[in-house]
Amino acid sequence: MNPMDRLTVVILAAGEAKRMRSRQPKVLHPLCGRPLIAYPLRTARVLADRIVLVVGPDAEGVRAVAGGDVQIVEQRERLGTGHAVLQARAACGAGTVLVLAADMPLLSSETLERLVKHHRKTGAVATVLTAVVDRPQGYGRILRQSGRVKRIVEDRDATDDQKKIREINTSVYCFEARRLWKALAEIRPDNDQGEYYLTDAIGILAKAGGRIEALAAPDPVEALGINDRKQLAAVGGLQRRRILDRLMADGVTVLDPASTYIEDTVTIGPDTTVYPHVLIEGATTIGSDCVIGAGSHVSASQFGDRVTLKPYCIISDAVVEHDAVLGPFCHLRPGCHIGAKAKIGNFVEVKKSRIGRGSKANHLAYIGDATVGEDVNIGAGAITCNYDGSAKHATRIGDGAFVGTNTSLVAPLTIGEGAYIGSGSVITKDVPPGALAVERSPQVVKEGWAARRSAKHPRRDKDD
Ligand code: UD1
Ligand code: CA
Repeated sequence: MNPMDRLTVVILAAGEAKRMRSRQPKVLHPLCGRPLIAYPLRTARVLADRIVLVVGPDAEGVRAVAGGDVQIVEQRERLGTGHAVLQARAACGAGTVLVLAADMPLLSSETLERLVKHHRKTGAVATVLTAVVDRPQGYGRILRQSGRVKRIVEDRDATDDQKKIREINTSVYCFEARRLWKALAEIRPDNDQGEYYLTDAIGILAKAGGRIEALAAPDPVEALGINDRKQLAAVGGLQRRRILDRLMADGVTVLDPASTYIEDTVTIGPDTTVYPHVLIEGATTIGSDCVIGAGSHVSASQFGDRVTLKPYCIISDAVVEHDAVLGPFCHLRPGCHIGAKAKIGNFVEVKKSRIGRGSKANHLAYIGDATVGEDVNIGAGAITCNYDGSAKHATRIGDGAFVGTNTSLVAPLTIGEGAYIGSGSVITKDVPPGALAVERSPQVVKEGWAARRSAKHPRRDKDD
């Protein structure tokens, strides 16, 4: 490749982000399940030959999420956006340098591709991506003379007249590398903040007679930058809607997009229906023809096809195989594997357990640190007593076993295949396959006892 045809994307992420009022770097704040920095990186990867990320000091977290294909340079002192780009010089080489701010996650790769194409076609020394917005407050304004871009003025340095301009700088630019470095060397920090502004490079290049182009973003929403938490929420809302639109286009029914929160990291198969007030987050995959009931919260889980989640289930870090039915009100804590066609019902809590194919725990049970075979029936109120006050112990229940209601299974414990546990038992010893285990005192029945008692102690009304 001719070095002049190379495209280097420089992403600026070293700002102090004072307006976030956070101990954490701005670009690590999550937006729909990914750190902010993940969005410009993803967009850049579509078209860049090389990616350079400018980070501030103490940015270990940012380095960690960047990925091996990204060259990282440090801006030790935060002296402004112009100074930040200068730090990337040695890493850039010749060709076109596309600069973008790390805090605008809605920017699309299509728009960047159009910007680069326009820049190269016109032979400009710099091309600015602009947007025409209703509320330009806070953004740099594009100043033109006889239609041509002359310079950019920052909001805080603008006159009242300049503040009325609605054409803003998105902070995305293409530069011809050699001319960029020359212009950056000339920037002076003579502005309200005393910083080296990248925006001044446009004025410097225009003054030197270079051709400056501007291209308007097709949708001004792409220009939205995140400087504070209010903007984080606003942009998050727009990104959330984009995710839902994508899922709906792929065949997922979302009954109420306004109350549905699905993160960018989630995939869902066609003909799955998502009911209102659902939150699905983390690395979650849901198959086709599933139902995600109202009010459910699913995180970092894998569902097969035709899984039904009845309303109000909380599922984290679980694998649920096809045709399983969960809920209403079931809680799968981390580390569960629910087999095909199994049923985990009302107010059942399961932790770090395997439940075999076709097994059922339909009501009010706790299953922890257990391996449950296939076609097992776990009665209402059955509990695995997995904790002895200092350590956790395992319970094994063989295929086809029947655990009666209200039993306590004191672990470590093995219940053999096809064994029966009588209702109300406290089981402390292993039960062999096919056996019946009952542990409770024999029932006493005294015929006529009630009449004899009331003869001795006549009942009185409460009011007496
Ligand atoms: C910047 C532009 C403004 C534009 C707006 C669009 C400048 C001077 N202003 O303003 O014209 O309308 O973006 O959103 O460029 N950064 C560094 N090092 C620094 C300072 C900033 O890496 O020393 C990074 C930040 O992390 C951020 C980006 O540069 O990702 C932009 O900085 P920010 O402070 O957000 O600039 P704005 O005030 O939004
Ligand atoms: Ca910004």
